Amino acid sequence: MSDLNGRVIVLGVSGGIAAYKSVELLRALQKKGADVFVVMTENALKFVGELTFQAISKHSVYTDVMKEDTPDKIRHIDLAEKADGVVIAPATANIIGKIANGIADDALSTMIMAVKAPVMICPAMNSWMYESRAVQRNLDTLSEDGFHIIDPDEGYLACNVTGPGRLPEPYYIADRVEAMLVRKDFKEKKVLVTAGPTVEPIDPVRFISNHSSGKMGYKIAEAFEKRGAKVTLVSGPVAIDPPYNTEVVNIKTADEMLLKCQERMENIDIIVKVAAVADYKIKNRAEHKIKKSEGGLDLVLEENPDIIKTLGKLKKPGQIFVGFAAETRDLEQNALKKLESKNLDMIVANEISGKNSAFGAEENKVTIFTKNMAPKILDMMDKKVLADLILDSILEIENDR
Ligand code: PMT
Repeated sequence: MSDLNGRVIVLGVSGGIAAYKSVELLRALQKKGADVFVVMTENALKFVGELTFQAISKHSVYTDVMKEDTPDKIRHIDLAEKADGVVIAPATANIIGKIANGIADDALSTMIMAVKAPVMICPAMNSWMYESRAVQRNLDTLSEDGFHIIDPDEGYLACNVTGPGRLPEPYYIADRVEAMLVRKDFKEKKVLVTAGPTVEPIDPVRFISNHSSGKMGYKIAEAFEKRGAKVTLVSGPVAIDPPYNTEVVNIKTADEMLLKCQERMENIDIIVKVAAVADYKIKNRAEHKIKKSEGGLDLVLEENPDIIKTLGKLKKPGQIFVGFAAETRDLEQNALKKLESKNLDMIVANEISGKNSAFGAEENKVTIFTKNMAPKILDMMDKKVLADLILDSILEIENDR
């Protein structure tokens, strides 16, 4: 479930070599549930045929202001009105210049003039053109006018030049279009999220750990980023892609996680500890690989620091601390005990055994406990949807203060 589900996105394609990537972008937006309408400039039509976009979008492509085939509507106004968001990818120097200077002389620039929804511009061109004073000046103007500008990637370009100018990958642009439409109710907030397992070495090749995949924590970090927060994600080893536009700090052990969190606590407004921290580490950790021998092996465990409790002792007024409680029984009782003993403002309790185990799953079923509000017993749901509900509860705590 994405924030683009059921939204209307207008995809503007101007005449650059990267226009072929717009077909993939159309698909990426559709995968997120968007209904996509395509507008092309005359030059874009020389790179990719409109039939390709029409076949995939299931809508006729708008290419000519003077060709009105639906007499009951004025097409550029109709598209501008129905758009929840617009993305122009690729945006050539020409279309950037036109929009920045109020020129409306083709289907795309005319439609843009009437749009009230957020517009994203994805410049793609030769590096020297991109760096030219005219293009940079026009991009500055667009930025000041409230357009969302996505920096081009650097790389080898069709013109045999290496530098900035490549259109970013379609799935990245689609993610940024989604972020553009999300409410920014955590704007300016500095958030620290921990996720994944910690890994405690036994010897150089073996370790103890747990089944955390990082999915829950990463979805929470992603939701914060999309809602405008500046996010640091301190993560144990996981096999999933990090959220965009987020500082990711990779750690292995609980000691490392504590250190990295402590270093970043100073200006943090909200901390959410989703990580499944190993409560114990190996006391007699071997320097070399332990050789197999008769008679078994004794490992001595010593307690790891309780990270959130340690940080909780330094908690400043105004900071919000959220923990997770992973329980196999007595969910409420154990969660409430942790809420109190760890000096938390909120705890999200979930099951980690049986068929509803939160470990590794795409979905999770939780109860949210706070100090002052009634518990919220939520249904089983996708971790992405749940992440947003957890953020809503954090806002409630803030508004309650
Ligand atoms: O990663 P996924 O596969 O998506 O799975 C998600 C999850 C099951 C890991 C997640 O939903 C979850 O429950 N995370 C908390 C796991 C945990 O360590 O719970 P706990 O009840 O042992 O700890 C309570 C709180 O104290 C947690 O916020 C934990 O991060 C924190 N803690 C625990 C031990 C420790 N030494 N230091 C801590 O800070």
